[in-house]
Amino acid sequence: MFRSVQPVAFGAPSFEGAAKKFIPQKGEHQLLLSELDDHRTLADKTAYVHEIVRQRFPCIDRIAIAKYDPSDDTLRTLVGSMKADNPLILYEAKLSDVPSLLDLVLARETRVVNDMRIFASRNTIHSKKILEKGFLSSYTVPLFNEGDLIGMLFFNSRQCGAFDDSTLGYLDMIAHLLTSLLAAELVQISTLRGALKTATQFTHHRDPETGMHLERMARYSRLIARKLGVSYGIDDGFADRIFQHAPLHDVGKIAIPDRILLKPGPLSAEEFAEMKTHTTRGREIVSTMLHNFNIKNTTDIGMIRNIVAHHHESMDGNGYPDGLMGDAIPLEARIVAVADVFDALTSERTYKQAWSNDEAFVELDRLSHFKLDPDCVAVMLGAKDEIQEIQSSFTD
Ligand SMILES: [Fe+2]
Ligand SMILES: [Fe+2]
Repeated sequence: MFRSVQPVAFGAPSFEGAAKKFIPQKGEHQLLLSELDDHRTLADKTAYVHEIVRQRFPCIDRIAIAKYDPSDDTLRTLVGSMKADNPLILYEAKLSDVPSLLDLVLARETRVVNDMRIFASRNTIHSKKILEKGFLSSYTVPLFNEGDLIGMLFFNSRQCGAFDDSTLGYLDMIAHLLTSLLAAELVQISTLRGALKTATQFTHHRDPETGMHLERMARYSRLIARKLGVSYGIDDGFADRIFQHAPLHDVGKIAIPDRILLKPGPLSAEEFAEMKTHTTRGREIVSTMLHNFNIKNTTDIGMIRNIVAHHHESMDGNGYPDGLMGDAIPLEARIVAVADVFDALTSERTYKQAWSNDEAFVELDRLSHFKLDPDCVAVMLGAKDEIQEIQSSFTD
């Protein structure tokens, strides 16, 4: 049994005790919150924190955060800072499938493993990959915010026995800091989402697209992003952001009048022209909101604007608002377009029945020859089980 395996030690992190121990030594850089603020993304902040940690403890070779999504009980790699290549990118696992981590979460305990070779016989992909990269010891901390699990933090070293009393006190303080950073990011996103939800409720009261449509299409978007993967330049941060921001795609419909948005029959050319402006109006609304919420993270801003403005572009250049063609359409918009169309096809609308998944796959395939990104479509066609799981978790 995992817990009885030695050498393993358990303990609960204590911030106060840890903070007392944290007195910068001669020639050592202090962890400056003001400098931390200069780093915009959680990945940059974690890399900065890692640099500071290494000044005191050069043996800490890796700091990684996995984010927990309670809606599907899944931990997904989010941030990885290390001196050599990252063993785990775009990796995910159900928490209930990793009993050793589940135990930590349930007991609210941290875990030190001073020689990870004890796991060599295990067949889990993650422990194999970590060992392959030469990591020999680990310190694992579940991250809680207001009682809820929000993620897991992993410290790794290429030395055996790197985690003793002198390192652990310090790392517990770092764990608290990273918890706050992750929680702050979640709060910022949920505040923005809350405000936009309020705003979109005005439209969704009038619009056939339901809240569950947004939940599903956000997950299809994340699924496509993660499966396109590193060959597309996609990292964990991108996949997480597209999941967060995809539901904003139609925020511009707030600005479309009822007589057009709710019109039961087909739109006239004039009405359709006005309907199309939900993309450009959405971009304006988002700019205002980001300004009002003081959100400065440029990677988020760029992605939100691209999704909102370009989710109706077409690969052949016949879409709107800008008639962008092929790769000129931002990747996040190409991904969201496929997710949005697939969910629209498989959902019931006042004017149509819900299509079966197989019917929708045939239609996606047809659209991939001129409208939708064929690589994104190929991912959807190859992910039938995952799609079904999302559909059964979020039914209308
Ligand atoms: Fe739209
Ligand atoms: Fe939609």
